[in-house]
Amino acid sequence: MFAMRYHRYGGPEVLCLEEAEEPHAGPGQVRVAVRATGVTPADWYLRSGMLRDTAPLGFPHIPGMDAAGTVDEVGEGVVGTAVGDAVFGLVPFADRGGAAARYAVLEAWAHNPRAWSFEEAGGAAGNVDTATRVLEALEATEGMTLLIEGAAGGVGTVTAQLARARGLSVIGTASEGNHGFLDRLGVVPVTYGPGLAERVAPLAPHGIDVVLDAAGKGSLAELVAITGDPRRVITIADFDADRHGVRFSRSEAGASPGWAGLPLAARLADQGQLTIPLHAVFALKETASAHEASAAGHARGKIVITVP
Ligand SMILES: NC(=O)c1ccc[n+]([C@@H]2O[C@H](COP(=O)([O-])OP(=O)(O)OC[C@H]3O[C@@H](n4cnc5c(N)ncnc54)[C@H](OP(=O)(O)O)[C@@H]3O)[C@@H](O)[C@H]2O)c1
Repeated sequence: MFAMRYHRYGGPEVLCLEEAEEPHAGPGQVRVAVRATGVTPADWYLRSGMLRDTAPLGFPHIPGMDAAGTVDEVGEGVVGTAVGDAVFGLVPFADRGGAAARYAVLEAWAHNPRAWSFEEAGGAAGNVDTATRVLEALEATEGMTLLIEGAAGGVGTVTAQLARARGLSVIGTASEGNHGFLDRLGVVPVTYGPGLAERVAPLAPHGIDVVLDAAGKGSLAELVAITGDPRRVITIADFDADRHGVRFSRSEAGASPGWAGLPLAARLADQGQLTIPLHAVFALKETASAHEASAAGHARGKIVITVP
């Protein structure tokens, strides 16, 4: 099969489109003919080698942690999914990639909602998994107010909508150019940076109950001060979390509470409550440009790669 892959750590130039061995669905897995795959900052963190100590890669490595496509192999023990079904889901966690290719194996998936294109579905699973895991860990329930630091990106847009569907009010930080975008997602926008507490106070007269830091830009001290309790703050991006008494949430091997979010996300999509706003769509051969667009740090929604 063809695949985008790289043989050593480095810049976007290490990526090359070439022949690769086909993967096959193991027990509890499906294989899809990939139509689209999402780009997440972790794709280029891993490629650059900055995670080589904590998450070393085997080479050659195919990037892409989530995908949408058509099932063409069903592993032993799988029920409810058949060859020909259109699904979106996550590649095996241990592989740290594999979706930027003709075929990819998924370890968690749901049927595509009618409301989403393959591009939208291809960019959904990773962020739905993360958002669901974080909302569960924050015990986010109806009537609470959630503040999201970095609300306009891939994780932020999905977390905001899933929180709204749970009955939370959501305030989200973004640069001013993204305020109208957040408003259309049902999020009260506020500008990030020093003085956030003063800007948030009039927007949340009853206070902020829980916080997701999806930016990792060094604002944890202020986010903790806003809630008054570090246990009500979770970061997915600030490695200084411990120093602030804040939990760091990350994917781990094995079944994740986030997986339950996949079928729920599909239902919400068909009810018009969950969209996957696309910042940009690239062809597989343009994966290097897709990584560069992600590294620029200002995605409005999700960056997606389509597979021919
Ligand atoms: N631990 C996990 O499980 C996990 C899972 C997924 C992602 N992550 C991490 O979470 C982070 C976000 O991921 P993502 O996929 O959502 O990234 P993304 O789509 O690239 O989001 C970038 C967003 O960050 C915003 N931003 C830039 N500077 C900011 C600042 N100083 N304060 C607040 N927001 C700022 C941008 O908004 P403007 O354009 O308006 O500036 C943009 O919308 C990344 O560091 C990623 O590695 C962790």
